[in-house]
This record gives sequence, C-alpha cells and structure tokens, in this order.
Amino acid sequence: MLLVVDHPLARVRLTALRDARTDRAAFRAAVRDLTTMLVYEALRDAPVTDTRVTTPVADTAGTALAAPPVLVPVLRAGLGMAEAAHAQVPGALMGFVGVARDEETLQPTPYMESLPADLAGRPVFVLDPMLATGGSMAHTIDLLAARGADDVTAVCVVAAPEGIERLRAAHPAVRVVTATVDERLNDHGYIVPGLGDAGDRQFGAM
Ligand code: URA
Repeated sequence: MLLVVDHPLARVRLTALRDARTDRAAFRAAVRDLTTMLVYEALRDAPVTDTRVTTPVADTAGTALAAPPVLVPVLRAGLGMAEAAHAQVPGALMGFVGVARDEETLQPTPYMESLPADLAGRPVFVLDPMLATGGSMAHTIDLLAARGADDVTAVCVVAAPEGIERLRAAHPAVRVVTATVDERLNDHGYIVPGLGDAGDRQFGAM
C-alpha cells in the first residue's frame, strides 16, 4: 500500500529540501518537520486502547497506542528522521541498520545492524528519507522479516517509482508512506528531481 502525504505544509518543507541553496541546518529542520507529518499520518489508523486519566478537575477517558511501532532509522540519512519520529512515540523502541550504497554498482553494502531479536506481531517503521532503487530498504526489510516482522511501514520523504516497484515485488505487504513520488532514477541512481544526497545534505559530504 502506498500513502502519499500531500499536505500544503509537507509540500512547503519538501520545497525547502529540494532547493539546492538550503543549508544543512535548514535541511535537517525540514527533514524533522516532514518526519513529524509522515509519522503522524502513518499512525492515523493505529489501534488504540482506552485508558483513564485524571485531570485537575475530574476523571475522564483517555487513549493509548495499543502497539507503538519499533522505529528503525537506516544510517546514515535516516538518522535525521529518528528524533522527530521518537518525539511522536516517545515510548517506542529504536533499532538501527547501517547500509552504505556502492556508488559504482548501486548495490547496498550493509555494515551494521542492531535490532530486537523478536519482531513478530510488532509494527515496525523503517525511516529512510530516500527510497531510490529500493536496495537498502529491501535489505532492511529482509533483516526485519528474519526476526518475524510482518507489519512493516517504510517511511520516506521522496520515493522513486523504481523503488516502490522493487518493494512491491519483494515485500508486497509493506506499506510505503512518503511525501512525494518523483519521476524516475537517473543513471547514477539519484532520484529526479529529488533533492540530491540526503545524507550529505544533512551531515556533509565525506
Ligand atoms: N539517496 C539519496 O540520498 N538521494 C537520491 O537521490 C538517491 C539515493
């Protein structure tokens, strides 16, 4: 399933991200703002449980998330989404996956994983701003599936049709929540028009 969060404020932040003149601090702020919106929409139909709460005046009905998602930022670029996602679900567990992209082959090169051993029955939100070829996301979802995860949402800022199609083929049950689906990938695996390298634009070129 694909959910495109097409809100005027999301489009404004996306415009800032696309603008090549946006500096690193403003870029990171826009990623955080957009992540808040994406996670908010991704949780729109989340199951809840009824609770009670005591206000300064009276007891009344309250709400709790029945199952807060496990958050999994994909390093490096997904790190910029982690704090804003965690602010939405402060009690969430957070795992980490590190995947670099080989710029020659465009293949994902995994370099670290730190995930709960058992993800059966738990919703998982993978945070990665760019769903380009889908290689890093598919690799991450393979790791999650090996731990029993069967309720996975890919939370992205920009998605390419090629990445969506790859996920649909490899992991048909995965939900993609994104602020936009762009036109295509170029020969270097960059999303067009995209926003450039989301890791470099947040943290600097290495
Ligand atoms: N990763 C990025 O950071 N940008 C792209 O356009 C594609 C992959």
